[in-house]
Amino acid sequence: MSLREPETYDVVGVGFGPANLSLAISLEEHPANVLTAPVTAAFFERQPSFGWHRNMLLPSATMQISFLKDLVTFRNPVSRFSFVSFLHDQDRLAQFVNRKEFFPTRREFHQYLEWAESRMSDVVSYGSAVTAIRQAPVHLRDVAGDHLRLEVQDTLSGTSRQVNARNVVVSTGLRPRMPQGVRRDERVWHSSEFLERYGRTDTDSLRNVAVVGAGQSAAEITAFFHERLPHAQVHAILPAYGYSVADDTPFANQIFDSAAVDDYYFGDDTGREAFWRYHRNTNYGVVDDADIRHLYQIAYDEDVAGTRRFHYLNLTKVRSVEGTGATRRVHLTSSHGRGPQWLDVDAIVFATGYDTMDPAELLGDLDRHCLRDESGHHRVTRDYRLVTTPEVTCGIYLQGGTEHTHGLSSSLLSNIAVRSGEIADSIIRDRAPRELAHAGALGVAERSG
Ligand code: FDA
Ligand code: NAP
Repeated sequence: MSLREPETYDVVGVGFGPANLSLAISLEEHPANVLTAPVTAAFFERQPSFGWHRNMLLPSATMQISFLKDLVTFRNPVSRFSFVSFLHDQDRLAQFVNRKEFFPTRREFHQYLEWAESRMSDVVSYGSAVTAIRQAPVHLRDVAGDHLRLEVQDTLSGTSRQVNARNVVVSTGLRPRMPQGVRRDERVWHSSEFLERYGRTDTDSLRNVAVVGAGQSAAEITAFFHERLPHAQVHAILPAYGYSVADDTPFANQIFDSAAVDDYYFGDDTGREAFWRYHRNTNYGVVDDADIRHLYQIAYDEDVAGTRRFHYLNLTKVRSVEGTGATRRVHLTSSHGRGPQWLDVDAIVFATGYDTMDPAELLGDLDRHCLRDESGHHRVTRDYRLVTTPEVTCGIYLQGGTEHTHGLSSSLLSNIAVRSGEIADSIIRDRAPRELAHAGALGVAERSG
């Protein structure tokens, strides 16, 4: 390799959240790594250190998923990276079991993820945002195969460098969604930035706060405000009549099993539509039963005491937000016509959800080579690889953004252990013929040299 030539890896991962962390472990544990030359992998993460939705690590928030759906267990139940191994390592296994609870707090799960990450830290670079993925220059297209070239920007200095990859795995996560026309600022927050914004604000100044949305984030932030700001009026602005419960009953929960991915992927349009029609309420715009009951109890206790500071504005939407300085006027529309037309608040949080991952922006020109279906979505193989025109022979894999092909678990933790294993298998399967071709070509070169 000449000095000016960028390093080349078998796999480059964009983003190092739980999904690509699970992939890094999968690659390391892959049996082929013992038998042949190890797969070379590098991951780039734009955050300065590992963090999983840090701004929503509210003190008592619990996971929405069993601790057994960790980074590895469903792929390799004897992995040293399991949540049970973590508990054992922390000398907390017995205490955890005594709780008789499947759901750890998000804070504990974050500790687990950090613990696993600290054992894989040699493959990841932090403060490194991937800004583009391109086809590598023609001279690199040798018999060992094509390369993709990634631009990686240092988030502190702004300087860029390049790396080459035989396969890229894009796992950049959900994108915060704001209502059209509403812009974030120091008093208008999205839930994804909640704790950071809250921590930077003088809490004495928060006398009137509002939370928009009827999902898990909205419910958790509303309860947090009510508890932490005893001097404040807390307004919950809901498009729905009431918070709806997240269905986690066992038959419905099967849609998150890895077997359901096959049913979705190989099913017909009617079947796929049924997944969404009947089971959207397992995850989107829904709240844990206990959290709903907690908020209702708050409202009820205030009725009993005759002092109301939790204001529940249902069937209500935000039309616009105006103002500068320390307060904002929020214009409202309520479909029963009884609520206020506007509110003056010191802070408003839009817990209005997320859009799914879309790799198109990173792919830029390369996206022209990625085939799309009739509804304009990327075509994706069962093993999560974008279907491309023949000119692109490298693998571009997705972890996330495959709701249209692989179903409801695409953006969740439910299936990451199995999915990462499937992607690792696919990459390693694809590597074998390339290696043979490369070894053959070298042999020819050596013999003739
Ligand atoms: P994730 O978003 O975690 O990671 C993507 C990473 O890519 C980020 O670290 C980001 O900084 C990085 N990145 C983005 N662009 C980049 C670029 N250009 N270059 C470099 N790095 C880049 N699901 C579930 O199953 N159970 C649960 O309990 C929860 N709980 C939960 C709580 C909250 C508050 C939210 C918002 C979501 C959940 N989820 C969830 C769903 C959530 O999507 C899931 O837990 C994981 O975060 C998915 O992991 P990923 O690695 O795919 O994305
Ligand atoms: P969400 O489930 O998508 O909910 C968004 C809410 O905002 C919905 O009620 C939605 O209503 C409403 N909304 C959207 N646009 C709106 C608008 N313009 N005006 C008013 N309301 C609007 O998002 P979320 O609550 O952030 O949850 C996202 C994911 O994170 C889920 O998977 C959830 O389980 C997870 N999560 C987990 C935890 C935890 O583990 N403890 C905590 C928080 C979140 P409509 O349905 O009508 O669009």
